[in-house]
Amino acid sequence: PLAIETAREAAPGAGPLSLTQRPRRNRKADWSRRLVREHTLTVDDLIWPLFVIEGSGRREPIASMPGVERLSIDEAVREAERAAKLGIPAISFFPYTEPSLRDPTGSEALNRENLVCRAVRAVKRAVPEIGVMTDVALDPYTSHGHDGLIEDGAILNDETVAVLVEQSLIQAEAGTDIIAPSDMMDGRVGAIRTGLDRAGFRDVQIMAYAAKYASAFYGPFRDAIGTKAALVGDKRTYQMDPGNGAEALREVALDLAEGADSVMVKPGLPYLDIISRVKTEFGVPTFAYQVSGEYAMIEAAARNGWLDGDRAMTESLLAFKRAGADGVLTYYAPRVAERLRAGA
Ligand code: PBG
Repeated sequence: PLAIETAREAAPGAGPLSLTQRPRRNRKADWSRRLVREHTLTVDDLIWPLFVIEGSGRREPIASMPGVERLSIDEAVREAERAAKLGIPAISFFPYTEPSLRDPTGSEALNRENLVCRAVRAVKRAVPEIGVMTDVALDPYTSHGHDGLIEDGAILNDETVAVLVEQSLIQAEAGTDIIAPSDMMDGRVGAIRTGLDRAGFRDVQIMAYAAKYASAFYGPFRDAIGTKAALVGDKRTYQMDPGNGAEALREVALDLAEGADSVMVKPGLPYLDIISRVKTEFGVPTFAYQVSGEYAMIEAAARNGWLDGDRAMTESLLAFKRAGADGVLTYYAPRVAERLRAGA
């Protein structure tokens, strides 16, 4: 009791505080909150990754990514049309390669008629106004699930880069607008840029997965493209160590020097500090990838009634903008675009 008395005497009491600054004044009404809002999410910020499979009229649910499906090319074209109508600027493709086509060298990556090349051609024919991005890496095509060539359990960097250049060229030939190397080999951006330029693809952009971490959050994606069971070991000799920050700046600097038009940080939410540092340091177009595991976490909680899924989706996407990202690759793209259009 004595302590309470003393505290009361020391405190200003129940009367009005004499405050010059009252930050809450700006938060009092919706009109005011909207006026002072520093960052907003718009449909222009979205890139939608799609999973493609063989067949037609086929939509296959992905257990660890509820709400996301693998689509046959005709269905993917339909979704691309929907994306264009919603105003989503770009989509990106990831193939589920038939297991019989996977081999140790990922040779299907160099097949001009592979799933991704056919998907790109079909979408560019039907929906020419939408941007199409394709991943460059060997993991959807290798029997061991790694992004590069392997000898005695070790990744062969330079030999892999030579294959990635070929992969980029056949994707460019198919009509892709953005080549996105996600393999994390050293020197691949420069080699791809040179290869594209020599072949006359000067206008094909490169979005480098510049700071890509060796992350547990890719689990559901590996499920989606069917590499999870196959993957031998982990990707720590090429993807970045989650303990590193300054190294991300070095990776970004190298990719920019080698000719990247834009850079990406991946995963997203656990690496907001990296997005912020990259944007501040380089001021170049910077993208975040809200990866499969981030999507799965929100969906799992939402589907259990543990949080409001729509709000968690929007809030997490807005966080990327606040951190400095110019855009986000997200499986939520159509859902959030529809919500934005409804003015929610
Ligand atoms: C592979 C690649 C991965 C993702 C995009 N490209 C997975 C990996 O590196 O194992 C992950 C995307 C996601 O989790 O949503 N080159």
